[in-house]
Amino acid sequence: MNHKSIYFMLFLISFFLISGCKNEPKNILSSYESKADSIIRLMTLEEKIGQLSLFTSDWSSTGPTMRKDYIDLIRQGKAGSIFNAYTVDYVMSLQKIAVEETRLHIPLLFGYDVIHGHRTIFPIPLGQSASWDLEAIEKSERIAATEATAEGLNWTFAPMVDLARDPRWGRVMEGAGEDTWLGSQIAAARVKGFQGSDLLNSNSLLACVKHFAAYGAPQGGREYHTVDMSERSLYEWYLPVYKAAVDAGVASVMTSFNEIAGVPSTSNKWLLTDLLRNDWKFNGFIVTDYSSINELVQHGVAADLSEAGSLSINAGVDMDMQGSVFMNHLADLVKSQKVSEETINSAVKRILVAKYKLGLFDDPYKYCNKKREEEEIMRQDFLDFARDFAAKSCVLLKNSNKTLPINSGSKTIAVIGPLADSKSDMLGFWSAAGKAENCVTLLEGIKNKVKGSVNILSTKGCNVNDNNTSEIKQAVSVARNADFVILALGESRDMSGEAASRTDISLPGVQLELARAIIATGKPVAVVLFNGRPLSIPELDSIAPAILESWIGGTEAGNGIADVLFGDINPSGKLTMTFPRNVGQIPIFYNSKNTGRPINPEKPFEKYKSNYLDAPNSPLYPFGYGLSYTTFSYSDIKINKTEFQKDDQIIATVEIKNTGERDGEEIVQLYIRDLVGNVTRPVKELKGFKKILVKKGETVIVTFNISTSELSYYHEDMSFTLDSGDFELFVGPNSSEGLVTRFSVL
Ligand code: GLC
Repeated sequence: MNHKSIYFMLFLISFFLISGCKNEPKNILSSYESKADSIIRLMTLEEKIGQLSLFTSDWSSTGPTMRKDYIDLIRQGKAGSIFNAYTVDYVMSLQKIAVEETRLHIPLLFGYDVIHGHRTIFPIPLGQSASWDLEAIEKSERIAATEATAEGLNWTFAPMVDLARDPRWGRVMEGAGEDTWLGSQIAAARVKGFQGSDLLNSNSLLACVKHFAAYGAPQGGREYHTVDMSERSLYEWYLPVYKAAVDAGVASVMTSFNEIAGVPSTSNKWLLTDLLRNDWKFNGFIVTDYSSINELVQHGVAADLSEAGSLSINAGVDMDMQGSVFMNHLADLVKSQKVSEETINSAVKRILVAKYKLGLFDDPYKYCNKKREEEEIMRQDFLDFARDFAAKSCVLLKNSNKTLPINSGSKTIAVIGPLADSKSDMLGFWSAAGKAENCVTLLEGIKNKVKGSVNILSTKGCNVNDNNTSEIKQAVSVARNADFVILALGESRDMSGEAASRTDISLPGVQLELARAIIATGKPVAVVLFNGRPLSIPELDSIAPAILESWIGGTEAGNGIADVLFGDINPSGKLTMTFPRNVGQIPIFYNSKNTGRPINPEKPFEKYKSNYLDAPNSPLYPFGYGLSYTTFSYSDIKINKTEFQKDDQIIATVEIKNTGERDGEEIVQLYIRDLVGNVTRPVKELKGFKKILVKKGETVIVTFNISTSELSYYHEDMSFTLDSGDFELFVGPNSSEGLVTRFSVL
């Protein structure tokens, strides 16, 4: 029986199944489940286990192991999904093996880490989050999905939503920073962007929320390190971002490498089955991270790989990424009754349903369209959007004496620094199929901007991360010959991302020495930072006239940054992660607890208060902070009532006036403080924001509308309820300043 007759038989079965029911999503799902059951009844145990095994191609490596026999494994029905393989020709060649050379012709999933773009690379996710622009974030994932599916892919290992409060951890670049509420909004936007309006569309990807759970809280910010926290912290801060993705309909979940309080996520039945499937009603499939089943032996909860396989599948894992544990051990585990065939069948069913959701059984080659591949990669409108997104992700950290934007009188501009002209460093970590040669560097962006009308000088001045100071002197002489100096400093692309924790988050190498020498010339200097994490730059902050945080801006980084530097775009970004003064302040985040001995801000070093001897408690730049080329004043905060019932709507308004000389966008933020709780409560919690355009000289009234139910929290007994009591409501430009009013819940 060839694959066409099998598909026709399944089509007939499903036709009679579907025709008897309305086309409700739940009925479509149950029809997919029925069809999956029909296939499962035909499958051998080995074929079932094959569907539970995911292997990387040898095109690129994203982990510590590689098998060269992945094509044989497909042909033998031992690999049901492949990752790190794309382009139409390659995907088509592998899919043909699965569909035409295996007994049941089950098509493959093709996964890839499409984290911030596929070919057109956007700013790193931490940078994107600084735009606070949910529509732009969703649009960037929609474009990424369009490009990725045009090259044969149908599954992305994204969004990474891990809440992170420790900038020593390299993967903060991949997430949305330190706030649970904002991170949850962004998680949902990313899932919608990837999956689109219908997974059956050929430009939709299965999304995969990761890394479940709490991977962003490793001790010491050290990669893969132990996570240990209270149940309340887990529920209050770390879990909601994953639930937001589940509630947005994410098709898959990836388990994290770490343990949580002694139980590794990959063998955590409470996490994967009790919470994710039973409480949250997640009905997609669960894939592990790269060989994380194998790592249960290193964690010390499995004596050998066979036990590791048993623990993980019985905890709720469906698919083994690259570990070969399911392939090598599940059949024996079933025979020895340590794993039931029913458990195997349930896992296979969830994976087959995902393939039905994509329409792969109707057309396994639907993502192999040469015309789409030629026409839908790096389209000009994608590049234009990437340029705008790179600009909108920038955060103006300092701008003394209106150093920026660069005034039109400059005749010679010097672009100095190790990141001034580095194409590969504009990509950042997890740059998928992005190519360095397509990237626009800062130097190129500036030259594109001035189009020969200004003399541009450039030199590196030093390397990113070594102790060679030999070029600084020459850089100083270049600076002396310019009217304006742009100093491009920061981290190289591999200094953040996976396996890239740092114990020292200051400027690497001798870059600070370079900055001191250039700034000492007295020329107007604007520093542009390229970095994948908050950096501790207190001296740079004190000596540099202007600092623009550009993160790692992607394919169009240079053009986007130039749009900001020359004032064509007024920067509007705001930090989603606190910048500490030094690494000793970590963990430092805005929504911390008051403690029993809070400082008096007027006396920051008062004895017997919760403070340090050698640094203030305040960060260098707080959560929500970012400047503009104009200025805004906040006034007249009002609230609709001062006493609310428990199912009431709080309506707060505030007036924002543009007191500067040009139009500008402002991200107005609303925070709440619960003054007395059943447990201690944060000094502030973000509960809303509005990004508004205010024309120069104009005033805009901003209205926030939040339900009192959003003031619920986990009590001492872990009940999630709302108290009566007094609250403060803040509206401001960032988490450390603004207007305050009070109200009560009765
Ligand atoms: C890596 C990462 C994960 C990624 C996976 C596949 O180790 O932890 O985020 O999706 O392997 O590349």
